[in-house]
Order: sequence, then structure tokens, then C-alpha cells
Amino acid sequence: MWPNHINKIPKEIFGDPAIFEMELERIFYGPEWHLVGHVSELPNKGDFKTFDLGRRPILIARGEDDRVRIFYNACTHRGTQVETSTCGNRKSFECPYHQWSFNTEGALVGCPGEKEFTPGFDKANYGLRELRMEQFLGLIFVTSSSEAPPLEEWLGEIAAPLTDILGGDGKLRLLGYHKVIYASNWKAYNDNDGYHAPLLHSAFRMLNWQGGKGRQIATQSGHNAIEAELSLPKGNRFLNDPSLIEFKGADPRQGSRVVQLFPLTVATKHLDTINLRFAIPRSVDATEVHYAYFGLESDSEEMLRHRVRQSSNLLGPCGMISMEDASIFQRVHLGTFTPGNVEFQKGVKRTDEFWSDFKQNDEASFLLKWEHYRKVMDFERRPQA
Ligand code: FES
Ligand SMILES: [Fe+2]
Repeated sequence: MWPNHINKIPKEIFGDPAIFEMELERIFYGPEWHLVGHVSELPNKGDFKTFDLGRRPILIARGEDDRVRIFYNACTHRGTQVETSTCGNRKSFECPYHQWSFNTEGALVGCPGEKEFTPGFDKANYGLRELRMEQFLGLIFVTSSSEAPPLEEWLGEIAAPLTDILGGDGKLRLLGYHKVIYASNWKAYNDNDGYHAPLLHSAFRMLNWQGGKGRQIATQSGHNAIEAELSLPKGNRFLNDPSLIEFKGADPRQGSRVVQLFPLTVATKHLDTINLRFAIPRSVDATEVHYAYFGLESDSEEMLRHRVRQSSNLLGPCGMISMEDASIFQRVHLGTFTPGNVEFQKGVKRTDEFWSDFKQNDEASFLLKWEHYRKVMDFERRPQA
């Protein structure tokens, strides 16, 4: 039973392995879209990256025909994981077990001993199994469900702030990654709200770099976006080298953007740092996150160097404005083994009905996400007393 007040979430959903298994089926293999990459990570024919959709290994590859496809990273013979590198460039993918080989478009092109296979065996039926994929400004989304709505419909009004993050046209250049495994349930990682930012993160306060007059929107599909006002960082006595937090972007009045898509996707633009977070729920108490940083295709070499310095110092597990999160995710996770509910308070206007506009530092913007989660998981709300 789920509490009847919409701002209360039962703690037991964070640490229960049976619920985690249910989440894989209903959410990660269900009718949602999951961000797994950006086309700029695979600019050339034969480029690939591997990732996981829940527990299912996937292979994202740009074929000889220049099309990006997503396959299950599992051999169609006996199921062996085919590619183990995180990324690279190949002419073909060969399964080591019995050397079946697949071209970059997924077709089976070689299998030793074929003459002695089952009568009627046809290579054409044994290509790598392709998943449903859609792109939005170069963002690569995957789903293993045929029931997910078209991507743009699923994104809804979040498409606009997402477009801002991607520089308007999604023409990006990959700068690099931070990769981390947080010791927490994926939902605790995902609940990183607008309320905590200036309170938990000392650097937010010290740099005094954020206004507060921004706004948030949230949708029925469980997505939300923060459009934060940006107060440009001024000279301060905390950094020996303030150039690290300089803002050289086109229009500072745009502020910063944080987009969270249900269930686990995050995209942000803070100052000149463009960041996409690809996440994998590893187990009930481990969440792997790949922070990928980007510049724009049109950037000068100097701008790219600036973005690399800023990105690698600002965000991620060791970033100035996010380093405290890792410890909080773990502490939230440990705390959820005690009885009762967690509560949302900041910006909660009422506890019996939902609304969709929020202030920059409200935590209430996550309530629609939780409602979507509750519905997808079929948890029944306790009747009103
Ligand atoms: S399992 Fe891949 S070739 Fe046999
Ligand atoms: Fe945070």
C-alpha cells in the first residue's frame, strides 16, 4: 500500500531486491525510452560503444552504411556476449566462442562449419538482434518494448529545455567521461532535487553562482526540467584560478538547465559544461553512472580546452558542485531500511492533487515522477481516511 498523501514515499521500495526485479521488467524493459548515447560518440563508420539496458548488454554501432543501430550484445548462436570493449572501431564483431562474425550492420557473415548445421540453416536469420531506437538531436534512445510511444510524444514539453542543453541543433563533440558506481538504489540517485543544491553543496554557496528565480516543469510521463536563473560567477576568494568557472557561452541570460527523464536519464548545461548522464541500475544498492561531457562542433580549440577544464572540475563524482552527492545517495539508501516514509516538503502546495509548475528550488517537482513510478509498478494508494 502506498501512502495516500502524494508527498510521501514508502521507504521499503528502495532496498527490496524483489521490487528491483519488478522494476527491471516494468520500467527498464518496459515501455519507456532510455538514453544510451549521443551520435557524436560514434562519428565514424565502424565506431561502437557498449552499454547495458538494465542487465541486458547492448551494442551501439555505426554501420558501413553510416546508420547507427542498437543490438543486443549477445551472439545469436549460444548467447555469448560478443563485444567487451567499452568503445572502439571495428570492421566486424567476432564472437570468441565459435568465431561467428557479424558485420557492423549486425548481419551474420561467417560461421565455421556451416555445412554441418541444421538442414535449412540460413545466415540471414541469425543477425544480431536489433532493438527499437529513436534519435532526438543526436541523442540515442533505446527501448526493448514495442509499446513505448514515439520518442517525441514521450518527451513532450521537455523537448524544449533538452534542445537548449544540446546547443539548439545537437551538433556536439565528445570531450570525455567520468564513470562512477554509487552505493545506492537508482531511485535515491535519481531524487537529486532542486532544494538541496545550494544547501548540501558548499561550492554552490561559496561561488554564489546561481540566482533562484528560475522555474521547473514536470510532466505526467515522469520527466522534469529545471530552468535555473544564472548569476554569473564573480571574482571570489575561494578559487586560486577563477577562470575555471568563467562563462564564455553565447547567452548567459539563458541560465542553466537540468533535464531528468523517467526513469534514469539526466542532461544538464551549467555554465559552459554540457553533460549527459547514462545510468545503469546495477543492483538494488548499486547504480552506475557515466557522465559524458560535450562541446559544440563549432567550438574553437580554446573553447574546447575551456570546456574540458570546467567539465572535469564542476560535475561528476569529484566535481566541485556535486561531490557531496555520492555520500548522500549512500546515506539515503542506508536510512531507507528504517520503517516509515520519506517525505517531500519544499514547494508542496497540497497533498491530495498534482500540479505541474514549480519554483527553481522546489523538491515538489519530483512528485509527478513518483506518481508515474507508482502507476507503472501498480502500487495501490491507501484509501483516504
Ligand atoms: S556462442 Fe557465439 S559463436 Fe558460438
Ligand atoms: Fe546534488
